[in-house]
Amino acid sequence: MTMNPMTFDLFADAEPEQQPRREQIGEQSCVLRGFALPWLDRLLPALEAVLAAAPLRQMVTPGGFTMSVALSSCGTWGWTTDRSGYRYTRDDPQTGLPWPSMPEVFFQLAQAAARDAGFTDFEPDSCLINRYVPGAKMSLHQDKDEKSYAEPIVSVSLGLPAMFLFGGFARGDKSQRVPLLHGDIVVWGGVDRLRYHGVLPIKDGQHSILGEQRINFTFRRSH
Ligand code: SIN
Ligand code: FE2
Repeated sequence: MTMNPMTFDLFADAEPEQQPRREQIGEQSCVLRGFALPWLDRLLPALEAVLAAAPLRQMVTPGGFTMSVALSSCGTWGWTTDRSGYRYTRDDPQTGLPWPSMPEVFFQLAQAAARDAGFTDFEPDSCLINRYVPGAKMSLHQDKDEKSYAEPIVSVSLGLPAMFLFGGFARGDKSQRVPLLHGDIVVWGGVDRLRYHGVLPIKDGQHSILGEQRINFTFRRSH
């Protein structure tokens, strides 16, 4: 079979391929590179206000381990853990007050990212805020404390880079390693909703805006 010379010519002066903005990492999972960057001017002051009302703190797992990641939440429901288990609560156990409401810009960003990934009308009622300092990590786990798994997870990365592990449906399944940078968003849902995931220990470094830390927002529909 001979190659059609015209076809050949068409590709000869094609532009160098650009870094795709959306990278598929599963059937219904993707990374949206740099998606959060245009939102930062509104996102960071809102984050500061949330953390002033509900400070980051290290929590203890049911097994008695202190997590290396410090947590806070906003939205109607906040995810917490202590010796008696993992759960969503309406009040911050540390302040006794309701979790701060979810800033409009958080909700809009999560909804826009979900839409871009193919999930329309995502209405998160919970945003977990994870703060990693160098050395902090998140072991492989599934997000399954929600009442339904119909809605996706939207996970925003800010600050220091991380190596995200995106596994299968059993803890021992092989994981993909997905490098995440400041502004990247991972969305997984549908058939991928219960995939194991985690974060390798954060490497030493300084981020120009956030300093020596990685901040992650995990948006979910819990109820
Ligand atoms: C999480 O699974 O709660 C956090 C994931 C991340 O920090 O990227
Ligand atoms: Fe998770």
